[in-house]
Amino acid sequence: MTLDIRPFETPLGAEVRGVDLSQDLDDAAFAVIERAWNEHSVLLFRDQSIDEARQLAFSRRFGDLEIHVLDQYLHPEHPEILIVSNVMDGDRHVGIYDAGRYWHTDLSYMAVPSRGSLLYAIEIPHDAAGEPLGDTLFASTSAAYDALDAATRHRISGLKAEFSLANRHARLVADGDPGAVLSDTHRDRAPPVVHPVVRTHPITGRRSIYVNEGQTAGILGLPEDEARDLLHELCAHCTRPEFVYRHRWRAGDLLIWDNIPTQHLAICDYALPQRRYLHRTTLRGTPPQ
Ligand code: OGA
Ligand code: MN
Repeated sequence: MTLDIRPFETPLGAEVRGVDLSQDLDDAAFAVIERAWNEHSVLLFRDQSIDEARQLAFSRRFGDLEIHVLDQYLHPEHPEILIVSNVMDGDRHVGIYDAGRYWHTDLSYMAVPSRGSLLYAIEIPHDAAGEPLGDTLFASTSAAYDALDAATRHRISGLKAEFSLANRHARLVADGDPGAVLSDTHRDRAPPVVHPVVRTHPITGRRSIYVNEGQTAGILGLPEDEARDLLHELCAHCTRPEFVYRHRWRAGDLLIWDNIPTQHLAICDYALPQRRYLHRTTLRGTPPQ
């Protein structure tokens, strides 16, 4: 088995070939993977067959794991696994079904957001012609930062923004989602937090734009309409097609992404009886700088 890293043509993403995640990886192989992850931000491992214990063991090699605040969607035996799924058990959603309806980065509404996430596809919906549905888009917010003009970079340097889970929830409600529920407990556990608009990656040193459509509520210290316009401009810039990799899922894919220099978006173009079922593990991060 030779480990081979094949970068995509987009500014982020690479496929890792020659790795069977159901087997133990030696330290040298893991080091190659970790380096490639820091360089390419999103890594794809195709045709994997791993159980919960294997996903947890592989994820833990990258660092400590989070237990998600939305605890109604945790795997009943492994709370470090968040179920991402549209499947119902009676009238209960077994997993988070709208994980990525808006461009976002995982846990940006927490004081210490996530470093990265690993998502393993168990069931993927298809259309009548057998083409996969429910793609996930990833944008390189470091490529987006690099492409800003000097005046905009100067304007946003040092700015801070407010992020909240309530903002995401309010968007779902405004869009008429009948299933959008945010209990007082969840609201209390995730009060609004403040992060820099531009963050610097602790390992690569690259700057990236951190504000996102789904979870950023506003920019501090600017008049409200100016803040709204700037937020809109930055979010639209980050997700321009030239910064985006679109992942078409296959069952058996494991994707790991870096939540610092990227944002992602789930395309909700499928519905039951087409089932979508994935297991996510979430890596703990460090306070954004
Ligand atoms: C996530 C997420 C998107 C998707 O798991 O963090 O945003 O396509 N998922 O399921
Ligand atoms: Mn997400």
